[in-house]
Amino acid sequence: MDLHALQSLLSDLPLGQMAYFDVLDSTNEQALRWAQAGAPHLSLVVADEQTAGRGRSGRAWFTPRGAALAFSLILRPEQIGSTSLPRLTGLGALAVCEVLNREYDLQAQIKWPNDVLVGGRKLTGVLVEADWQGEDIRSAVLGIGINVAPDSVPPESEVVFPATCVETALGNPIDRWTLMKEVLRVLLSRLPDIHQDEFLQAWEGNLAYQREWVQLLREGSEPVIGRLLGLKSDGSLRLALPNGEEKFFQAGEIHLRKVDRS
Ligand code: BTN
Repeated sequence: MDLHALQSLLSDLPLGQMAYFDVLDSTNEQALRWAQAGAPHLSLVVADEQTAGRGRSGRAWFTPRGAALAFSLILRPEQIGSTSLPRLTGLGALAVCEVLNREYDLQAQIKWPNDVLVGGRKLTGVLVEADWQGEDIRSAVLGIGINVAPDSVPPESEVVFPATCVETALGNPIDRWTLMKEVLRVLLSRLPDIHQDEFLQAWEGNLAYQREWVQLLREGSEPVIGRLLGLKSDGSLRLALPNGEEKFFQAGEIHLRKVDRS
């Protein structure tokens, strides 16, 4: 891949500018730098390899050369409406989930808030970050990392949740750039309706562990156990606690796990 090939591959998508790197610290970091320097809405940063890819909660995200997808889209709040910002993580996860289900015949699901799973194993992570100016967000960056080939799957000892990749789940190799294009196509087609109920229903309809008992793990707090009911309109998770009370949880630093309560 190179910039010219990327621009020609994505020429029929309504993107802003594009940047391609063989090696980069992090596409999110580069997208934030570029956004600060004035990159237009829907500009895209793509890297073949990341040396400092990052995940939620300050974790590292593994993107070795030639095996994964790592890309970040710059979004301007004035173009999408600032109330839609809390839904961006869902948009990224939903786009990957829908493409894997429809185009690759995998049974992918979203582990709220930002992971895509196949067969109970994670193959995608989404990280939304913002460029703040005082109390305002000047731009948001929606970063997506997809494990495509087996080399992109980190060793079991280095992950907090079991991982896999698209090719292992499928049992055959794929063209990763076609996958990226399909994800971007779905993401861009859903973006104008991100504030609608239909978007929330699609996001909710693809959640893993629905009606099942889950555990929310939070740094410095006791874990919360509850039955997963769905989402609130801002994308917070609705849980029914064992005493029947309904509670909402914002993504923040929360991590979700399934629990066995047979
Ligand atoms: C997570 O699961 O914790 C989120 C992982 C997000 C990884 C992607 S790869 C592209 C973009 N650049 C980064 O540094 N992170 C995101």
